[in-house]
Amino acid sequence: MIIQKNEYLPEYYNIENVKWETPDIYTINIKTKNPGHSGQFFMLSVPGTGEAAISVASGNGRDLSFTIRKIGSVTGKIYSSQKIGVRGPYGKGWPWKDYDHIVAVAGGIGVPPIRSLLEELMDAGRNRDVSIIYGARTPSDLVYKDRFEEWSRCVDLTITVDRGDEKWGGNTGFVTEFIGRKNFSKDTAIFIIGPPLMMKNSVAEAIKSGIREENIFLSLERRMECGIGVCGHCNVGEYYVCEDGPIFRYTDVKDKPELFL
Ligand SMILES: Cc1cc2nc3c(=O)[nH]c(=O)nc-3n(C[C@H](O)[C@H](O)[C@H](O)COP(=O)(O)OP(=O)(O)OC[C@H]3O[C@@H](n4cnc5c(N)ncnc54)[C@H](O)[C@@H]3O)c2cc1C
Ligand code: FES
Repeated sequence: MIIQKNEYLPEYYNIENVKWETPDIYTINIKTKNPGHSGQFFMLSVPGTGEAAISVASGNGRDLSFTIRKIGSVTGKIYSSQKIGVRGPYGKGWPWKDYDHIVAVAGGIGVPPIRSLLEELMDAGRNRDVSIIYGARTPSDLVYKDRFEEWSRCVDLTITVDRGDEKWGGNTGFVTEFIGRKNFSKDTAIFIIGPPLMMKNSVAEAIKSGIREENIFLSLERRMECGIGVCGHCNVGEYYVCEDGPIFRYTDVKDKPELFL
């Protein structure tokens, strides 16, 4: 008799550490042998609540970390739990191995899969020809502040906020303004993740700057239930965002404006 593994059953892990990045965003670590890749996600749960899709914020031989905005029933309980349910990794990661020059653009809580991307690139010795542009609303909304100095020594890093405060001496303005200031080669790939309007405007700016449409990749967000292409909750046109994405080539989804709303 063949006994099949129930794919919906999570494995339970102790939370090793909780670090508050901002008043409502925290990072947790678990120890697992299968941390997935940048751009992929896991389904996390706390007994008695539902599940939430959360991106790989760090992995690749390190502890697996997730950076989570406290928004509702699951994300509001994980940080105070000793153990969490984890299943995954699911979805497709960033196709960074296919490109020599990469620009990654993150807005708001979109930054965790860009952190794991950056770590994978650095681990592979790919420091040159990597630009990261990360924007948040205000300086206090920026996460991973303690890593900016190290990252800026390794890659071309641009941090910007929509509105500065009296202590802020850095860039202000939307991430889109900074895309146009980079030098792109013919084969530059751009990876974009953030709120729908930010992604839409970033795509327009990337095209204006000469990046080929087929070199634009977006991480899309849909409400997930199963995470494995069964329930249909994340369905958009012919795609299941959980299985066919969450990373999509722009040319595959550009005729689906609902993905950017
Ligand atoms: C592929 C993928 C990767 C993600 N990665 C991360 C991550 O790394 N960090 C992170 O903080 N979040 C991430 N999210 C979003 C995260 O899944 C949701 O915030 C989470 O499911 C909320 O669960 P909850 O039970 O705490 O909230 P709920 O109690 O279910 O909802 C609270 C409120 O938030 C709204 N809401 C819930 N989920 C979403 C959503 N996906 N989009 C818009 N509104 C929503 C609900 O409508 C409700 O108003 C990701 C989502 C996807 C699809
Ligand atoms: S979440 Fe069930 S099909 Fe994608």
